[in-house]
Amino acid sequence: MSPRLIGAAGDSVGRDDRGLVVTVDGTTVAGVHGQTLATVLMADGRSHWRTAPTGGQRGVFCGIGVCFDCVATVNGVPDVRLCRRPARDGDRVTIQHRSAAQ
Ligand code: FES
Repeated sequence: MSPRLIGAAGDSVGRDDRGLVVTVDGTTVAGVHGQTLATVLMADGRSHWRTAPTGGQRGVFCGIGVCFDCVATVNGVPDVRLCRRPARDGDRVTIQHRSAAQ
């Protein structure tokens, strides 16, 4: 256990660790309320979820909503920055793939 990981019972902001479930390209992924969609995906072991037109793998780069490397389609809305989007139970994430011609 990380020395920086604080259990929900001792968390001064009142975190309650309620679970949530999202789908990523139809695969069920579990998360916790308060996480962003990017952290839900990273906690699931994913380091990237988009392929750039150059073929490079992209996921979280800045983590603060500036670079747009982490975009995906969420509930049918394209180009959502997953590092800024709080995860909600039932969210449907679809990985975006773009070629150099798009
Ligand atoms: S990681 Fe840079 S905008 Fe999301």
